Amino acid sequence: MLDARVLVLTGAGVSAESGIPTFRGKDGYWRDLNPAKLATPEAFANDPGLVWEWYRERRQRIRNAQPNPAHKAIEKLAQHAHEFLLVTQNVDDLHARAGSSKEKMVQIHGDIFVTRCSRCDFRRHDYEHDHEHDHEHEHESEDIDVPRCPQCEGLMRPGVVWFGEQLPWHELRRVENYLKAGACDFVIVAGTTATFGYIIDWAVRAIANDGGLIEVNPEETPLSRFATQRVRKPAALALLRIVDELAISRSSKL
Ligand code: OAD
Repeated sequence: MLDARVLVLTGAGVSAESGIPTFRGKDGYWRDLNPAKLATPEAFANDPGLVWEWYRERRQRIRNAQPNPAHKAIEKLAQHAHEFLLVTQNVDDLHARAGSSKEKMVQIHGDIFVTRCSRCDFRRHDYEHDHEHDHEHEHESEDIDVPRCPQCEGLMRPGVVWFGEQLPWHELRRVENYLKAGACDFVIVAGTTATFGYIIDWAVRAIANDGGLIEVNPEETPLSRFATQRVRKPAALALLRIVDELAISRSSKL
């Protein structure tokens, strides 16, 4: 057992080596479209078919991808740390498929495999492609590529958080409760540009009591100045070594 209270924050860079494109940077563009502009309520209102096409391609890519050593290293840390929470901005399921349990993980930007109604509370989990496809054609409408709610006929949308939208309340509470329950011995922030203030806020608050902040990112980010250790390497390469080193320095039994 690693005698430590740990918070891990991850972003798209952790899944990059599984072949999932990040959001920002030149490789993040989809058919010359900026993902930051597609992941908005406005884009969905203007062209729901286009937004769905993007999400379907992403779902397919994620289904075909495999977790990489970064996901596995985080799961190993979760298994052994005395107290642990993973907060991921990633909507893919690669942390889960690497073994991270729901109890120790918060998907703060939602789950790409959830399809929910944009009008009522209806939601479902669309993992299998066939299932997704069935629903698309269940209701005859002009928007054959845009699923309709079986309850209210409203447009269905992916169960993710878009720019300008509120974070899911329940998940937000889980993060806040973890932070309130005690300071962390260390925080690992991997593969995120830390664009959102709340990511910086959570990382900084968690180490308020002299905890360590390890940043794993080939590039500098707004969080870098708070980091006690900066690892400028890809996550899949660096994380397992970091986890093993933490184990050696804090316990001999990991
Ligand atoms: P970004 O695409 O903004 O940033 C990816 C980060 O990963 C960058 O800082 C890269 O330097 C870093 N990176 C790239 N390859 C890496 C690797 N192999 N190992 C480690 N780091 C690597 O992704 P996020 O910060 O996750 O939100 O973006 C945050 C949110 O913005 C996303 O969750 C999404 C997006 O809009 C919503 O959809 C609401």
